[in-house]
Amino acid sequence: MSNVHIPESPWFSYRDGALTCEEVSLASVAEEVDTPAFVYSGGAIDEAYLSIDDALSFAPHLIAYAIKANGNLSVLARLASQGCGADIVSIGEMLRALKAGFSPDHIIYSGVGKRREEIVAAARAGIRALHVENVQELDVVESVAQEVGRPIAIGLRVNPDVDANTHPYIATGLRESKFGLAIPVAESLIPRVLRSQDLELEAVACHIGSQLESPRPLREAIEILGNFARHCIDEGANLRAIDVGGGWPMHYGKEVDPYPPARVFGEAIREGLEAAKVLRPEIEIITEPGRALVGDAGVLLTRVLYTKTQGDRRFVIVDAAMTELIRPALYGAYHAIMPITEPDADADLVPVDVVGPVCESGDFVARDRPLPEVKQGDLLAIRGAGAYGREMQSMYNARPLPPEVLVDGSRSRVVRRRSGPEALWQGEILG
Ligand code: LLP
Repeated sequence: MSNVHIPESPWFSYRDGALTCEEVSLASVAEEVDTPAFVYSGGAIDEAYLSIDDALSFAPHLIAYAIKANGNLSVLARLASQGCGADIVSIGEMLRALKAGFSPDHIIYSGVGKRREEIVAAARAGIRALHVENVQELDVVESVAQEVGRPIAIGLRVNPDVDANTHPYIATGLRESKFGLAIPVAESLIPRVLRSQDLELEAVACHIGSQLESPRPLREAIEILGNFARHCIDEGANLRAIDVGGGWPMHYGKEVDPYPPARVFGEAIREGLEAAKVLRPEIEIITEPGRALVGDAGVLLTRVLYTKTQGDRRFVIVDAAMTELIRPALYGAYHAIMPITEPDADADLVPVDVVGPVCESGDFVARDRPLPEVKQGDLLAIRGAGAYGREMQSMYNARPLPPEVLVDGSRSRVVRRRSGPEALWQGEILG
């Protein structure tokens, strides 16, 4: 098998043969907190934020981080201190965002199924906008506004019926998906919304899906959204924002990078808004990136417990599992794997299945992945684990929840401890 270059990044690279996160050796992190563990580069998060900020520099904008990607309080606080906002999908996420220091007027609330009490809590907190996705939801929002005694700022989230051309589980903008309001339905609501004493039409919104490979569907969707925005304005709305959703892609440590840079997506947004004639200085652009801000900033550090050859397959059994990173099992997702010790440039590569200890055949990190020889006890870094990793964890097989470490230059800080045995039965009643 030919030798394949294992991809380095400015934030995860070999120094004197040892893989580092910024200036901290990952072996020393494993020594301190044991494995499995998530390690995040603060510098990579800052850089990702600035690249989206730069891509939208043509207009006033708010980057509302989709905190579902990684809600660690220290990660959130870092983004909040940059001026970032938050996109939330539950009151749990709102509490996290507020605790981490996001200001309520930088918080927007998306989601197809908000409970009434969640809408009450969001209204009381005075968040920037609550995105409505359903006619029945609009009724509930109006009644909540009457209960709390002041109008609620809303966004109308439309479904532009555009194929995002991504994994079906993370595509959200097609007519058959559960998200958003069909444009004719949203249009029919405008007079009612504008008449209502209980609602303020703050924004229009859409989100066509995640991990967009090309800016084309985004350009198309934003023009449709822009036309809807213009329709609202023509009807008399004092629209203050157009929320273009998330979908900015990340790289997962792929060797050949198929994804265009942020500025290309920024350009698609600009073109779409211009085509619809709603690129105006008084209208702020909101975007909701999740993975693009944090995904490539994280690795999941894991240790090889055993190796074995069974039939014609070679297995590398590691101490991380689908409980820490479910993306390979759920979406067949690719995450690059880097040995913690730099392999020889001419090392032979052998295809292996990297699997976890959980009792499921679907518990794998990678299948048929060419890797240099790995031995029992070796450490590996699974790339692209900063988004939808620790956040989608479970305690299946009564596994403890792993720690998280945030690195800044030569400093590393444990920002969440590994859970202890008490977490295994928290809330349970014996008897
Ligand atoms: N805005 C809305 C309304 C969303 O539903 C999402 C993601 C985002 C923004 C952020 O999308 P991003 O920029 O991260 O692509 N667990 C899946 C991802 C599910 C995403 C759900 N919504 C994964 O691991 O790929």
